[in-house]
Amino acid sequence: MRKLSSILVTGGSGFIGSNFIHWLFARSDFSGRVINLDALTYAGNPESLADIDARFGGIGATARYAFVKGDITDRGLVEKVFVDYDIDTVVHFAAESHVDRSILGPEAFIRTNVLGTYTLLDVARKAWSVGAAGAASNGVRGDVLFHHVSTDEVFGSLGDSGYFTESTPYDPRSPYSASKASSDHLAKAYFHTYGLPVTVSNCSNNYGPYQFPEKLIPLMILNMLEGKALPVYGDGRNIRDWVYVEDHNEAVWTIMNRGRAGETYNIGGENEWENITLLRRLIALVAEESNRNPASLEALITYVKDRPGHDRRYAIDCSKLKNELGWKQHFTFDAGLRATVRWYLDNQEWCSHVRSGEYRNWIEKNYITR
Ligand code: NAD
Ligand code: DAU
Repeated sequence: MRKLSSILVTGGSGFIGSNFIHWLFARSDFSGRVINLDALTYAGNPESLADIDARFGGIGATARYAFVKGDITDRGLVEKVFVDYDIDTVVHFAAESHVDRSILGPEAFIRTNVLGTYTLLDVARKAWSVGAAGAASNGVRGDVLFHHVSTDEVFGSLGDSGYFTESTPYDPRSPYSASKASSDHLAKAYFHTYGLPVTVSNCSNNYGPYQFPEKLIPLMILNMLEGKALPVYGDGRNIRDWVYVEDHNEAVWTIMNRGRAGETYNIGGENEWENITLLRRLIALVAEESNRNPASLEALITYVKDRPGHDRRYAIDCSKLKNELGWKQHFTFDAGLRATVRWYLDNQEWCSHVRSGEYRNWIEKNYITR
């Protein structure tokens, strides 16, 4: 039986991780604690969890939330976190996550996504070993879990038809997806070689609150509000399968509770959109929610040079997760997209902080860093 009681969330100050922590603490059946290990790169913002820190943070046995500023490649620090907090579960979100950045500078992706994942896996293996050092499968505790969060991009690019399933061969095309593919292989290798209880999920494009405004949806919303160009790559007809972040996180938690060790589960929205059609939908929503003229927003659409190696289509078959573990999506695209637009309209301060670097001053005031 998995304990799921002292959970190390890596990258908890990023988009999906911060949503995961909010979502988990809102569940009445979760009584455990969360330790958020995050290096606070440009994409990590502890302000996203200020409410959680105020309600559940603090010092002592009753605290249910702790933030540790640090890098997942720092082995000494990761070992210390395992000991200090008696970690029994890892859910590993931390990554360099933006494809365009990986094209401009792949090194950080290899370091964090490959070396960082290796470091976490290796520390977990040793910390959870009950036998002699280097013990094989029967030497690992049975009440622990390492859940590795990954992406559908590892499967490459689809044509007009077909879906990625869990058995689709890996075919990553960008430095980002290649680094994530490598981390997936490491996670599986630690299951097969050392018997570390590992689950892996490969998810399609997420959207929702707290997403750094370099990704398509928040970038377009903020550019509309500021009257800036809306840059559409290539012909705008690349397809992504969009899932609301809360649905993703519910899937992750479902897998952590009931997923079989050693297995991969695909997560998707079953919600395919061409970028340009999605943008027009977004324009209509922003116009409606902010009393702007849709025609003037439409005029901002600007076709720009395509992303090198731009994957044409992603589409996920998530029937394994649905049939085996009973998960399903709850958010329609209309509801999720409207909630997202509203969130960005209502959280302009958060947006200006993450884009100005001002939140770093806030960190200095609010957190004692190691
Ligand atoms: P994000 O970029 O918003 O957040 C990443 C977080 O990791 C940040 O808080 C950052 O500070 C932290 N981080 C980066 N390097 C670190 C390091 N070396 N040590 C410690 N912390 C570090 O990313 P996201 O969109 O929330 O994605 C989270 C995970 O989900 C990633 O593994 C990503 O590959 C995966 N994923 C994302 C999507 C998506 O659509 N965003 C879809 C599927 C899978
Ligand atoms: O599929 C899951 C992946 O989704 C995650 O693993 C990644 O971490 C996440 O960033 C996302 O990757 P994408 O490259 O699909 O997301 P992005 O928001 O960067 O782009 C979505 C689509 O929109 C893609 O076809 C490129 C296009 N695009 C993007 C930007 C930023 C534009 O046309 N213009 C833009 O300015």
